[in-house]
Amino acid sequence: MENINWKDLSFGYIKTDYNVRAYYKNGKWSEPEVSNSEYFNIHIAATALHYGQEAFEGMKAYRGKDNKIRLFRWKENAKRMINSARGIIMAEVPEELFGEMVFRAVKMNEKYVPPYGSGAALYIRPLLFGSGPEVGVKPSAEYTFMVFVTPVGPYFKGGVKPVNMMICRDVDRAAPMGTGVFKVGGNYAASLRAIVKARDANYANVIFLDAKEKEYIDECGPANFFAIKGNTYVTPKSDSILPSITNKCLIELAESLGMKVERRKVHVDELPEFDEAGACGTAAVISPIGKIYDPDTDKLVEYCKNGKPGKVQMKLYEMLTGIQKGDLPDTFNWITILD
Ligand code: PLP
Ligand code: COI
Repeated sequence: MENINWKDLSFGYIKTDYNVRAYYKNGKWSEPEVSNSEYFNIHIAATALHYGQEAFEGMKAYRGKDNKIRLFRWKENAKRMINSARGIIMAEVPEELFGEMVFRAVKMNEKYVPPYGSGAALYIRPLLFGSGPEVGVKPSAEYTFMVFVTPVGPYFKGGVKPVNMMICRDVDRAAPMGTGVFKVGGNYAASLRAIVKARDANYANVIFLDAKEKEYIDECGPANFFAIKGNTYVTPKSDSILPSITNKCLIELAESLGMKVERRKVHVDELPEFDEAGACGTAAVISPIGKIYDPDTDKLVEYCKNGKPGKVQMKLYEMLTGIQKGDLPDTFNWITILD
């Protein structure tokens, strides 16, 4: 195993040994090829550079107590990338090719999969972009698909901690009929102004409201929002949020605990009625929300008054991370063990 201080890793980029690439040309995908370069040779008129024809995925591989490497729900990421490709008219990466390249990238960089118990994981970043030249606004005829991996640290060092969020009304991440449901780079570029403003004001991230009415919760920066109210798991239904795989898992886990699940519009005025709130996504799994501040109304909602995350979301967190690490049985069939 590589000599890395696993416990001090952040959620950042560290060079690994190999990445895997495939090229779409003349209507078909090439055989995947392995590269040890961190760079691309890219055409100056590639549509990704000019018109943002680009989509990515984010997933993790974990090492279990048995030393086996576990991939989590990779087919969901493959499907989402196909949907993102359709959303911005790119060539689709077939599920088998996606899987083959992800497995190869992990296997070839096996020594970078953090040890069991370190809290760290191997983050997998598939990337698809228009690499053919165009000057007019139209889809590229050529595409590049690439998978790189990088070890990432536990999102919360020293345990899961509540974070504070700021409501955002002056920036929209995505429009109702726009690209919010796709994992395309442009959405993240659009969110940066809001995220930087929130960070400068000492908040972990922003809560975007729906772009049309500015009344309903959309997303928590690059994560889905959820809340707990009694025995109910509540999460926003919206035309502009990314369907989070973590959220999907939490919903299934909540149902398995006998909880009621509501996927519906969540009005910002409803926030004080919740017992717990959180943001969910691959990077942190769950970020419990401690406080939500609304700078336009000067209202503050506080959840974790004792400084600790809520009990229900911690139970869901333990269940999900237990399955990911292989500590709990894979009753939902979410794990692929790498041979
Ligand atoms: N929402 C956005 C905008 C994201 O970028 C992500 C991260 O991937 C999520 C939600 C969470 O999705 P997932 O749980 O599939 O990682
Ligand atoms: C997540 O995985 O939860 C994210 O927020 C993805 C981000 C790094 C783009």
